Amino acid sequence: MHTDPSLTPEEIRAMVRPDSVHRRAYADPQIFDLEMQRIYGRQWIYLAHESQLKKPGAFFRTRLAQYEVIVTRHTDDKVYVLHNRCPHRGARICMTDSGTSRLLNCPYHAWSFNPDGTLSTVPHRESYPASFDMTDPKYHMERVPHVETYRGFIFATLNPDPRPLLDQIGPMTDIIDNLIDRAPDGEVEIADSSFSLVYKGNWKLHLENAADIFHPTFVHASSVGAARRTPAGKSKMDQDQVRTMLEANGFGKDQWEGIQLKGLANGHTYMTNFYRKGVVAHQAADPVFDRYKAALVAAHGPDKADAVLAVDRFNNIIYPNLVFNAQHQQMRVTVPLSHDTTIIRVHCFRLKGAPDEMFHRAIRFLSTLASPASMIFSDDVEMLERTQAGLDLDPSPWVDFSRGLDTETAGEGGQISGVASEMPMRNQFKAWAALMAGEAA
Ligand code: FES
Ligand SMILES: [Fe+2]
Repeated sequence: MHTDPSLTPEEIRAMVRPDSVHRRAYADPQIFDLEMQRIYGRQWIYLAHESQLKKPGAFFRTRLAQYEVIVTRHTDDKVYVLHNRCPHRGARICMTDSGTSRLLNCPYHAWSFNPDGTLSTVPHRESYPASFDMTDPKYHMERVPHVETYRGFIFATLNPDPRPLLDQIGPMTDIIDNLIDRAPDGEVEIADSSFSLVYKGNWKLHLENAADIFHPTFVHASSVGAARRTPAGKSKMDQDQVRTMLEANGFGKDQWEGIQLKGLANGHTYMTNFYRKGVVAHQAADPVFDRYKAALVAAHGPDKADAVLAVDRFNNIIYPNLVFNAQHQQMRVTVPLSHDTTIIRVHCFRLKGAPDEMFHRAIRFLSTLASPASMIFSDDVEMLERTQAGLDLDPSPWVDFSRGLDTETAGEGGQISGVASEMPMRNQFKAWAALMAGEAA
């Protein structure tokens, strides 16, 4: 941590203009510290999925604001979020990303803790003073005060007096519902299907890029060319989804016609009409999909099954740290490390009750598009890092996001714009400024 950042609400507000933002938002460590306090430290932040914590003793290590935390499942089946710090002399306890262990053991003087953070055993107990009371909470691993789950998705907040989780993520829970509804058994799980990468850039750059539909023609030109040279329908492995997705990155303005960007309160955004008419990453009928659809119809009935599959939204951003693509069973999680370093965790969900091949397809699609070695995400990361490098050096203070400003309209529940617009960035910074100034988004 750097020194305690003290900026007045007026100074924060002055950093965001209708068409631009001050470069400090990306390049200043002091601003990052304030983001960790006011955004990641006060909002509900997604941490883990319940399927990663199946049995008592299961744990998952991640970050909440500037702190490292461990998400655990206790013997009472409840989920806890604990600071990864020993209450004795402060050592980091857990150095593994995930696993299962009856106790969390501190490596220094071997105090051990139950998955709910309470102190279990202390070696040489008799050498501590008589007043040493193992049940005293000061000797327990510190708990994050509020943990809530929305249909298996675990959120926590450091805010001692938070607003209800649904007040924050409410307008976006429909996309979480849609992912779960796509599972014939009504459950999804993260099953050995995750990877993560670190890029040298600010966390906001990833969320902006996920809502920027103007860059693919230029940034992904090499894979567009490869897709164009590949005959249609060749790949039976994935219903041709990868090729069509790669090719769609080269679409011109006319072909994007009909796609809309939506910006909601609290910084959330998404794209609609993305898979329209099966042009992009279509799900054409084939034996695997037919079996999947039959299972879905058996579970939901034909009308609901059709409605579930028809949801046509892409890159749903649940601000500030999730990007959801329900149709491809995938989710990306933004974990900020410093003003210029970010982890992206990428997860693929298994739809319970669906044929295994659907899961394998989703993993192949994800690996091709979003893995560190993919034809798409590696291009994006290069742009994120070049942007950060440019902003770190930039002598001029303002970063422009005016594209589409004149065509943006206020619609039901938020802002609406055509595809060639930077409205999502404006919408994210509206929430950012409100949170950073200490006001509700
Ligand atoms: S620092 Fe953990 S037991 Fe001493
Ligand atoms: Fe991209």
